[in-house]
Amino acid sequence: MKDNNWWQVKNLKKHEEVVLKTKNIDDLEKSGMGDFGSYRKILKGENIQNTMLASHNDLNSKNKILFINKLLPFKNNDDLKILDAGCGVGFTSHELSKFYKNSKVTGVDISSDGIKYATQNFANIEFICQGIEPTNPPLGCYDLVFCFEFYPFTRTNSFQTHKDYLDYFLLQLKKHGRLVIHQVWENDLSISKNIDDLKKEFDEYNFETHRVPHTKIIGFFGNNFFSILVDKILRFILRKVHNKAIIIYKKEI
Ligand SMILES: C[S@@+](CC[C@H](N)C(=O)[O-])C[C@H]1O[C@@H](n2cnc3c(N)ncnc32)[C@H](O)[C@@H]1O
Repeated sequence: MKDNNWWQVKNLKKHEEVVLKTKNIDDLEKSGMGDFGSYRKILKGENIQNTMLASHNDLNSKNKILFINKLLPFKNNDDLKILDAGCGVGFTSHELSKFYKNSKVTGVDISSDGIKYATQNFANIEFICQGIEPTNPPLGCYDLVFCFEFYPFTRTNSFQTHKDYLDYFLLQLKKHGRLVIHQVWENDLSISKNIDDLKKEFDEYNFETHRVPHTKIIGFFGNNFFSILVDKILRFILRKVHNKAIIIYKKEI
């Protein structure tokens, strides 16, 4: 049975060690390879279609970034410092750097293969290989911190874990900075379970939650209310879960 704490940094490190020791990359598939197996495969030059990378990383985050930006107080030509926490192989960090064209983007991930691939392919971005833990020293001081499907928020409903990670990231925000967490909303093992209690705990912060339509719907109908409506209707009919962005920022006094 899978350990409930597999998402913790110490366990992810052990998991990656196993993947790194696997000689034949095709064996990774048999062992339920997960993100790290996909990262290994793509780093070794495997065709992206054969890596299952799309199940673990958003390979086309352009519309999502466009949509979320409308909810933020920044323009795409502002000079910003941006952190992409849990960046995987760097596709989203790359989209962020294309959209926020005058910004400095830093992507951080625990996976050494993921960071190697990202560094080799996206030269204009700073990538750091690190397991992010609330006890670590701060990574920097940011206008925007993005956590797209970042495990500490999406693989546990531990209130203390969410509180500790929020404390860690919020302390690294500049005065008007925003922490953006993006995830499937109907996930009982995630921060959506604790959102009301966290609002009470962090009462000096605003918490906004926004539905984020499917990328194809944004692409087709544009970045507007109509996309949200169509997304709602389609997901209701098809009984599909939906994504939300949680945007957290300091209240003005
Ligand atoms: C589901 S993938 C999402 C990747 C990317 N953010 C995206 O949306 O395409 C989660 C990534 O977060 C990384 N990750 C999870 N917990 C982490 C932690 N505590 N520190 C650093 N990286 C972490 C994993 O290694 C993995 O690459």
